[in-house]
Order: sequence, then C-alpha cells, then structure tokens
Amino acid sequence: MLAIAVSRPQKCAGFTDAIASKLGSYGTTEFFQDVAMTFITEIKTFAALGSGVIGSGWVSRALAHGLDVIAWDPAPGAEAALRKRVANAWGALEKQGLAPGASQDRLRFVATIEECVRDADFIQESAPERLDLKLELHSKISAAAKPNALIGSSTSGLLPSEFYESATHPERCVVGHPFNPVYLLPLVEVVGGKNTAPEAVQAAMKVYESLGMRPLHVRKEVPGFIADRLLEALWREALHLVNDGVATTGEIDDAIRFGAGLRWSFMGTFLTYTLAGGDAGMRHFMAQFGPALQLPWTYLPAPELTDKLIDDVVDGTTDQLGTHSISALERYRDDCLLAVLEAVKTTKEKHGMAFSE
Ligand SMILES: NC(=O)c1ccc[n+]([C@@H]2O[C@H](COP(=O)([O-])OP(=O)(O)OC[C@H]3O[C@@H](n4cnc5c(N)ncnc54)[C@H](O)[C@@H]3O)[C@@H](O)[C@H]2O)c1
Repeated sequence: MLAIAVSRPQKCAGFTDAIASKLGSYGTTEFFQDVAMTFITEIKTFAALGSGVIGSGWVSRALAHGLDVIAWDPAPGAEAALRKRVANAWGALEKQGLAPGASQDRLRFVATIEECVRDADFIQESAPERLDLKLELHSKISAAAKPNALIGSSTSGLLPSEFYESATHPERCVVGHPFNPVYLLPLVEVVGGKNTAPEAVQAAMKVYESLGMRPLHVRKEVPGFIADRLLEALWREALHLVNDGVATTGEIDDAIRFGAGLRWSFMGTFLTYTLAGGDAGMRHFMAQFGPALQLPWTYLPAPELTDKLIDDVVDGTTDQLGTHSISALERYRDDCLLAVLEAVKTTKEKHGMAFSE
C-alpha cells in the first residue's frame, strides 16, 4: 500500500495533513495503521458474504443504490436463490426509486471468499449466527480484503470483540445490524469492539447513510445491542403469555398491531409515555406509574427506580421534546396516526383484506 513506501512527509492522494504531521515521529508500522484509518467511505463495489434472508436484503439494497455487488455463499444453489430473492424485492425498490445505473445485472456471484472481498470497497457479512463460524470467517475475510476496506457484520447480538478476535486490521471491523427486510427498513445499529477505531464506526455510519439507511451508534458493546434487547423482552413475554394460556399468538399480535404498533412507527416508547403524562410530562408519568414497576406485570425484573434513573429519563425526554409543546406533539402524533391508519387500510384493501383482519 502507498503508505508503506513513504519514508518522509509528502502529499499524495488520500494523504492528509494530519497524517503528514505525525509521520516524523512514527515508525512504519504505526504509520501504516494510521493510514489504514483513512477508511474507504465512497464505495463502488459492495461485497456480501452469506446470501440468505439478510444477505440478500443487503445485496438488493446495494444494487438499488447503483453499486456493483459481489456475493459469496457456500450453500448449493445459493446463487439461484439469491437472484430469485433480489428479483422479488426489485418491485418494491423500483417503487421507492432506483439510483441511476442500478441494475440486477451488476450482481456477480463468486466461488471463494477471497474473490468476493479482494476488490471490495465495503464488506458485509451475513453468515449464520454462530460465534465459531464468524470467528473463522472473519479471519479469512479480513486477511484477503484491502486493509482500509470497512467490514461490517449483520450479527443480531454477538459481540464484535469476540468474533473479530483474529481479524487482520480489526480497527476497521464493526457490527452493522440491520432489520428485515434490509432493502426497505432504514435502521442499522453500528457497534464497535475493543479493537475498533472510533473513526471506523463514524466511517461505517457514513457508508450506511449513503445506502439510504439511518445508522444508530450503540455506545456500549452489549449482547443484543439496543433493538434486539427490546424485541427480545417483548418476545419472551409473548411466549410466556402463550405458555400460560393467556392468549393465542394471533391475539397477542392484535394487541400490538391495533395499538402500540401503530404508534411505534413514528414515536418511540419514551416520547409516547411523555405524552401520556399530560402537560406535566415524564416526571408525572413516572410518579404515577412508578409503583407499577413492583407489580407482577411482566416476568422481567424492573430496575430500582432511583432518583438518578428518574432524572436520566426526564432529562432525556426533555431533550427529545426540544422546543415542541406537549399539545403540539399530540397534534403531530394524531396526524401520524391518521396517516398510518389510512396507509394500512388502503394497503389491506389492495390485498383483499378488511381493516379488522
Ligand atoms: N433474520 C433476521 O431477521 C435477522 C435480522 C438481523 C440480523 N440477522 C443476522 O444476520 C445473519 C444472517 O442471518 P439470516 O437470517 O440471513 O440467516 P439465513 O439462514 O437466512 O442465511 C445465512 C446464509 O449464510 C450461509 N452460510 C452458511 N455457512 C456460511 C459460512 N461459513 N459463511 C458464509 N455464509 C454461510 C447460508 O448458506 C445461508 O445462505 C445472522 O448473523 C443473523 O443473526 C438476522
């Protein structure tokens, strides 16, 4: 790579003043690492390893954004299955709007990991959720990739410090946890491990943004990250309700899709509960419903409601409110709800379904 050959500060493409000023005091290895931190963020070629439900979603999104995509998956018949999944998603992507030059023909399926990643500007792994498998796979991917190509893993909750343990240049390795269908849902949680450079997290967020996504930086590396911890809590409680004979699976889904689920598409739990506190907002809500934390409403133990926790929640929701009054946000919420309800109703009609189904 360019940097290894440079023995004194000089200007060339991708060579920043900051790096030039450091070169005098750095040895070759440190300098190489510094240059490797100028991660590639303007990408033309996207590599996808694993092309199941999630991998094919990444491939569809990258193709729709006008990129060349190289894919690899060891399963027999994987290429045909991938092309079929991409074709199935393409109608929705056309409706959403394709980037100039976007085409399903720009997908190339290759036979080896090395061929898949060698020329890639960005690499996304979506292999099965097994620590041993990801550890071995990332050792091979990172050894064959360009040293400054970012590597993202779609893992739902494994820790990057663990599965990037034997990666070459682990400073460019992150988690980029998406949501199904990846080609439509904007959220991607970005998580760094103990060896990930903070610059790599920022650079990966920039790349995901260029793919039309809404990256969310997860500050602490915790199993399940943010979204899957929330979804898992709901999921485990739902399984308890079925197990306890309280409700059928359909009734539990109804409890979400005709109520809280409609709100969740535009307002999260904290802001929703702030409005539930009326003009007095979140502090009143917590005083009113705080005692319920001790009631057996869930199998999940509640944290102790300390003054610090109350202040953190009130301060956080105050920031979320910004300059908006509660009544202005109530009008915003009502408009969003009417729009979501109308969209669900119209789409159900199109698919021959009644609203109440
Ligand atoms: N399904 C979801 O809703 C979801 C959501 C977000 C993240 N994820 C994560 O995405 C990843 C992939 O999940 P999925 O749902 O697409 O699974 P999947 O089973 O649909 O696809 C996995 C693919 O990986 C391939 N594969 C098998 N061994 C491999 C190897 N050694 N290297 C590369 N590929 C290999 C399989 O042939 C298969 O095509 C997992 O880490 C999962 O936790 C899943």
